[in-house]
Amino acid sequence: MIDAETMLDRIAAADTLGDLESLRVAALGKAGSVTAMLKSLGGMDAETRATEGPKIHALRERVTSALADRKSALENAELERKLGTERVDLSLPAAESVSGTVHPVSQVMDELAEIFADMGFAVAEGPEIETQWYNFTALNMPENHPARAMQDTFYLEPREGETEARVLRTHTSPVQIRSMEANGAPIRVIAPGRVYRSDSDATHTPMFHQVEGLVIDRAITLGHLKWTLETFLKAFFERDDVVLRMRPSYFPFTEPSAEVDVGWSMERGRRVVGGQEGWMEVLGSGMVHPRVIANCGLDPDEWQGFAFGCGIDRLAMLKYGMDDLRAFFDGDIRWLRHYGFRALDVPTLSGGVGA
Ligand code: PHE
Repeated sequence: MIDAETMLDRIAAADTLGDLESLRVAALGKAGSVTAMLKSLGGMDAETRATEGPKIHALRERVTSALADRKSALENAELERKLGTERVDLSLPAAESVSGTVHPVSQVMDELAEIFADMGFAVAEGPEIETQWYNFTALNMPENHPARAMQDTFYLEPREGETEARVLRTHTSPVQIRSMEANGAPIRVIAPGRVYRSDSDATHTPMFHQVEGLVIDRAITLGHLKWTLETFLKAFFERDDVVLRMRPSYFPFTEPSAEVDVGWSMERGRRVVGGQEGWMEVLGSGMVHPRVIANCGLDPDEWQGFAFGCGIDRLAMLKYGMDDLRAFFDGDIRWLRHYGFRALDVPTLSGGVGA
């Protein structure tokens, strides 16, 4: 039988989990040396047991904790080695059983890009973390302007040296400013993307999607705005009987401003876009405020245009008959399999999406 110190040294020096397991069996297994010592207690007289008992139990404790220490050291070393050497090849195709589908929001964004591309619009982008200048000030909402309170804004902790907190953009309208600054005029863009507001209930999620539209040119009128929206909504809902209603409204960055309702009717117990049994609001719009055009370095006497902003999630729900907004962001693969799209369902204006 080996002595206790040698046993503990060997445990501390074990190179592999396999070696460590052999040492454990040799000490604590049924026929192990420490087990044998424990068994021998039964044959001792009371006096000897009183002195040997605590020693043997203490030895078992030391061996047990030495085994546990070495085991976790070996496992950590193995993990470090794996982390240092193994790579995940993200370029490999996912197995069929785990493949998802195209999310309805992505599908609708593709449809929007297609429809507006046919009308000569390019797609523009901007950051989701914005400065207050782009999200508010340049859009004719100076500090303390009451309209800033209209949108429940998420403010970020200012970074060191930053005098003003940045925000999660509350709408896609800052992309109007960025596009005019970057490209001047004339311009025709849509800007789909995520926006954030501190708002959460059955019909609001703190993150949702909007698409912005912006046209700046010479002699642009409200008529161009209405035609563009009508053409877009007819193509999007794949119906000729889409009727729009423009209601006077207020946005600081457009003048005049209009909220746009689309007519709906009941078909087989479902509310669908088309006809005019009732109205629902689908977007905000207006003629770009001259001050906004000037803020981008353009001359408002020469250039004017229209802008609109529209909730994408709402469009997707209306078109594809989904009624719970929150399900959009649950990431439930069963919901996606039901409502999602195959990657090759590329929409076209002539063929429609379901073609
Ligand atoms: N940004 C506005 C909103 O989020 C919508 C809008 C965009 C209105 C462009 C007018 C012009 O409510």
